[in-house]
Amino acid sequence: MAEENRHPFLHGLSKHRGSPPTVVVIFGASGDLTARKLIPAIYNLAHDGLLPADFYLIGFGRKAIPDAEFQQMAADAIKEFSRREPSPEVWARLAPRTLYVSGGYDEKAAFDRLGARIAGLEKEIGQQLQSLFYISTPPTVFAPIIQNLGASGLAARYLRQPHQSKVIIEKPFGRDLASAQALNRELTTVFDEPQVFRIDHYLGKETVQDLLVQRFANAIFEPLWNRNFIDHVQITVAEQVGVEARAGYYEQSGCLRDMIQNHTMQLLALTAMEPPVSMDAESVRDEKVKVLKAIQPLRLDGAQSDVARAQYADGVIGGQPVQGYRAEPGVASDSTTETYAALRLSINNWRWQGVPFYLRSGKHLARRVSEIAIRFKRAPGHLFADDERSLIAPNTLAFQIQPDEGLSLILNAKIPGLETRTQPVKMNFKYATTFGSNTPEAYERLVLDAMIGDGTLFIRGDETERSWQLITPIHEFWAAQGRTGLDSYASGSWGPPSADLLLGAKGHAWREP
Ligand code: BG6
Repeated sequence: MAEENRHPFLHGLSKHRGSPPTVVVIFGASGDLTARKLIPAIYNLAHDGLLPADFYLIGFGRKAIPDAEFQQMAADAIKEFSRREPSPEVWARLAPRTLYVSGGYDEKAAFDRLGARIAGLEKEIGQQLQSLFYISTPPTVFAPIIQNLGASGLAARYLRQPHQSKVIIEKPFGRDLASAQALNRELTTVFDEPQVFRIDHYLGKETVQDLLVQRFANAIFEPLWNRNFIDHVQITVAEQVGVEARAGYYEQSGCLRDMIQNHTMQLLALTAMEPPVSMDAESVRDEKVKVLKAIQPLRLDGAQSDVARAQYADGVIGGQPVQGYRAEPGVASDSTTETYAALRLSINNWRWQGVPFYLRSGKHLARRVSEIAIRFKRAPGHLFADDERSLIAPNTLAFQIQPDEGLSLILNAKIPGLETRTQPVKMNFKYATTFGSNTPEAYERLVLDAMIGDGTLFIRGDETERSWQLITPIHEFWAAQGRTGLDSYASGSWGPPSADLLLGAKGHAWREP
């Protein structure tokens, strides 16, 4: 049968982006992420004609749920969270292919039942299915799931063939270097590295991918992208939401594990890495690992400390008074979990030596905004500086990751008039204006990439370990310090004074994004 006919829904992408017939199995099927992100992502892929004709979704969980009930759960999730308006026609195709298998994560017999169900589907359609196992459970059951995928033979299905099994694993990928290494060992006992897709949903965001396009598809940036022209870099991932209903998880995690170790470190790696020899997964990840390796160990103590941590206190957000972290439901009244963290990093390589990279993230901040700001060195100001009203601003190139996705450049311009006065002005490119605002969600891109077997936007084992190697000493230091050095900030502000000092020490200041 001609390929076009085998993939009647596959009209939206270039041919090499087609996935083989696939069954996606979600472990943690009744979880929040499944409803909010995974099922809507799969639905939108179906809507856009990007799933193979032979596609199945199997939810796997401890609760015994009939197929029909899981289908209803999926339909409700799509209705509430889908990017696109649900279409009865698309759902009519997907619903009968949405199935459920129940069982314990540590129960091998349940994995055998899952295998039998997949084999039954293959028999029905008369061809092999690639299995993509999506582990979206609490981390306590990662290991038994991986072990049972091995013991039941599911991990080795069609090994090294086009339909070979793959596994996507959600965060948190460990809680320190030792546990990340242990998890990597667990995974690679059962799977080969090319079968493993460690997710960081920031890499699925359009603007994060655009960073590589901007850097490497435009000739004007590369000559400036180094210590000769760049003064420092600020990476901000600010959230306005608080801990919400996730205190159980967050109390064990904190901002450094939840956001810095993964999302902001990934943004740093993409900003600072060398041009890869090609855009394939290994070349890109090789460069990311190289730059992570070049980051110097942090100074943790005293006035020279490279880190700041803080907790949100009472404050005002959106005109409403809100309470501090320790008063949130499920949070210990003497909790030392940080809801804000900032780091000053030095990358000791030829390109970046001497250029500080500042990272910050926090909850209950003034606004939800994520950006990477490249601050260039100041032009000599003497030509315009004899006038006190003149202001020569350093040029800043800012990648707005979200919301209001785009790219802006601050330049100095002459204020119209009969004398020469300057003013910083902003050149702005907005995604929504140029391309419209209905861009795919990160999870759509990532699920599709894993189905195709493209690991470029996933984290390799050595990458995650290197990142933990940098972060773990901070946790150890903070644990030893207890409350000492834990700063606080008003909810709705831009963070604690200690984070300002981190930049102030080098004559810098956080920019207001
Ligand atoms: C998750 C964190 O990884 O990212 C959450 O666990 C955080 O605490 C979320 O809220 C932020 O993601 P986004 O896509 O909304 O910026």
